[in-house]
Amino acid sequence: MSCIEVKNLTKNYGDFKALDGINFSVKPGQVFGFLGPNGAGKSTTIKLLTTLIKPTNGSLQILGINAIQNPLEVRHKIGVVLQQPSYEPTLTVEKSLEKYGMMWNISSEERKRRMEKLLVDFELVEIRKKRNEDLSIGQRRRVQVAREFMHDMDLLFLDEPTVGLDPSARRKLLDFIKNKVSSGLTIFYTTHILSEVEYLCDEVAIIDKGKIITIDTPESLKKKFGKEKTIKIHLSEKISSIKELLNDIKECEINFENGTNIIIQSEKSELVLLKILKILNDENIEIEDLSAVPTNLEEIFLKMVRENASNN
Ligand SMILES: Nc1ncnc2c1ncn2[C@@H]1O[C@H](COP(=O)(O)OP(=O)(O)O)[C@@H](O)[C@H]1O
Ligand SMILES: [Mg+2]
Repeated sequence: MSCIEVKNLTKNYGDFKALDGINFSVKPGQVFGFLGPNGAGKSTTIKLLTTLIKPTNGSLQILGINAIQNPLEVRHKIGVVLQQPSYEPTLTVEKSLEKYGMMWNISSEERKRRMEKLLVDFELVEIRKKRNEDLSIGQRRRVQVAREFMHDMDLLFLDEPTVGLDPSARRKLLDFIKNKVSSGLTIFYTTHILSEVEYLCDEVAIIDKGKIITIDTPESLKKKFGKEKTIKIHLSEKISSIKELLNDIKECEINFENGTNIIIQSEKSELVLLKILKILNDENIEIEDLSAVPTNLEEIFLKMVRENASNN
């Protein structure tokens, strides 16, 4: 049996088609990644799957239940962390967890046990007495994700849960999730960050403009997209001729920002970087800062969309 079975799912907002007949299924014990740029339809999909909104068309089975006919039955068995923050400003961190556990009818003893564990796992011990309104965005997000684990569930939906988290908190959350999955939880996970999908997901659907472009494993996705890197070079001073100087470099896309920043995207980043450094060196142009990072999927999407538009 599939955990999630989606057929021809469509959602219109007025005249606008936010989701245009998508199909996929998620097996038990999987982390299913749902990847796409802003506005692709990720949050709309999560809201549909968690029965918060109704589809315009299509069918939807969650944990074997017809989710359109029996939304409440579905809601009792799933966990959801939506993209928009939800918290009561004046509650403290521990009261937030406590209250959430009460909502789910967890016994008082069990609530205490789970809360203490989650406070440690999400590094909230030191701020347990702080009120939500006094927390940073990342801390609030951690509370929001942590409290979802106050109750038991078979299937958890996470909508871009790592937004606002620093790298260490991000990694901790991914590892926490991995651990839960190894004890049987199934997860539907949206993001626009390829490395998260690679680290966490067994399978991934790519969505753009309300349509699924492909469903694949992260390994084979990475083979297709993962070679591309973004190189950023910050020059010590403004060089007005920089555009002409780098004009002949092929196999990359170069963008310039206010005369001192050069942003290069390429699948052959090492080669391109060597060529650029040689030119800068020959011209005695001083570099203040340089970085090279894998291009995130959102940028690749934007590029694909731009290329697509210019080919038409
Ligand atoms: N309640 C709504 N009313 C009208 N349009 C909406 C509504 N919610 C989302 N949209 C639009 O639907 C599209 C998909 O949105 P969303 O699912 O939030 O994308 P994502 O989560 O991938 O960024 C966007 O163009 C968005 O502006
Ligand atoms: Mg969203």
